[in-house]
Amino acid sequence: MIVMSRNDSWAPDSWQGFEARQQPQWPDEAALQSALKTVSALPPLVFAGEARSLQANLAQVAAGNAFLLQAGDCAESFEDFSADSIREKLRVILQMAVVLTYSMGVPVVKVGRMAGQFAKPRSSPTEKIGDLEIPSFRGHIVNAEAPTEAARVPDADRLVQAYHQSASTLNLLRAFTKGGFAALDRVHAWTQEFVGSSPEGQRYRQLASEIDRALRFMRACGMDTETNANLREVDVYTSHEALLLGYEEALTRRDSLSGAWFDCSAHMLWIGERTREVDGAHVEFLRGVANPIGCKIGPSTTVDEVLELCERLNPAHIPGRLTLISRMGASDVEACLRPILRAVTDAGHPVVWACDPMHGNTYSTPSGRKTRHFDAIIAEIEGFVRAHRAEGTWPGGIHVELTGENVTECLGGADALDDADLDHRYETVCDPRLNGRQGLELAFRTAELVSSVNP
Ligand code: PEP
Ligand code: CO
Repeated sequence: MIVMSRNDSWAPDSWQGFEARQQPQWPDEAALQSALKTVSALPPLVFAGEARSLQANLAQVAAGNAFLLQAGDCAESFEDFSADSIREKLRVILQMAVVLTYSMGVPVVKVGRMAGQFAKPRSSPTEKIGDLEIPSFRGHIVNAEAPTEAARVPDADRLVQAYHQSASTLNLLRAFTKGGFAALDRVHAWTQEFVGSSPEGQRYRQLASEIDRALRFMRACGMDTETNANLREVDVYTSHEALLLGYEEALTRRDSLSGAWFDCSAHMLWIGERTREVDGAHVEFLRGVANPIGCKIGPSTTVDEVLELCERLNPAHIPGRLTLISRMGASDVEACLRPILRAVTDAGHPVVWACDPMHGNTYSTPSGRKTRHFDAIIAEIEGFVRAHRAEGTWPGGIHVELTGENVTECLGGADALDDADLDHRYETVCDPRLNGRQGLELAFRTAELVSSVNP
């Protein structure tokens, strides 16, 4: 690969002159090119105007006037794909957003890791299964997770399938969020059965009753709560890690209004911890699209690297353009983050600060299952909020992996799930997710932490 020296000219394919980590070894170049050509001829999944509204909402988060909730699967699955699973995920996101909004008194910007979150970076390109060494699973947009050599061969047809699944997921999301399902007078109806009976479910019911009372009060005062769009519709934006640059390039289109390029595969795209090198292809690609973008920063990230990333990805210092998502681990977050908060603030970069409390707290149990403990997840949010308090910055949001279903993938929570429980419903195709109850509990705890003076 030729590594070009960086200059200011950018095109949707200029990333090809830079080193792109984490790209699959597609066995059939002609099949890859044909799939990319198919995708590039398909309609955009989102429109530039929507990405611009999200950026305006995120600018409010950067200014400390709103909070970001970014949530969904670690990896969406081609198999576990149904109206029910989309609705259940949306339900828990809406519940969490209501808890955060009501308890913190600020608008919550809702962004799903949905409708395109398929590609996964891996720590190792291969995996040992007994004596056999086979390519790693890279998400359903690339290969299948079954532990066989054949299943792991990258298949370019999957790029097209991922596009179509994203389109139908987004279609249903739009229907649910604009068609009445998300109306505030249905807050009670969002509670799933398995959540309803739990302590956090009861707490939620009480909060929902208070909202009902407030709505009745507004109606009694003569306000029409039936037709007010603010009370009947919500915006849930989509996002995913922009990992497969060929796919992202194929969905990058020029906005006829502004002439700017938008990656129309999702409203927001982020760069993962494994692909955030300043001179790499991922930074090159995302610096040129006008969507709001994110960048993960892990515990080894230096202050200088973060400053360079801010300059590269948001040279015009546009508020809401860049979200820095720290994922440092519960024990490191406070010490690692504080100098970064200070330096970025001093440099005048108006970023959104979000906390991913999942990826720095993952470990394997003795039986080999990847998990995370609810207490460590909360502890990272605590450290994140403390760091912001100390530096006078706004802890702007959380970025979490969850599902609406009653899975048993993360330990702890009000149900005190333990190692043995992991065997009951461990269904993720990648990292362990919070279940509906744990998600709701996390929202209550987060609201308390962000609202308290001494987190
Ligand atoms: C992820 O968000 O699923 C992920 C792989 O995160 P990170 O890049 O922070 O490791
Ligand atoms: Co993950």
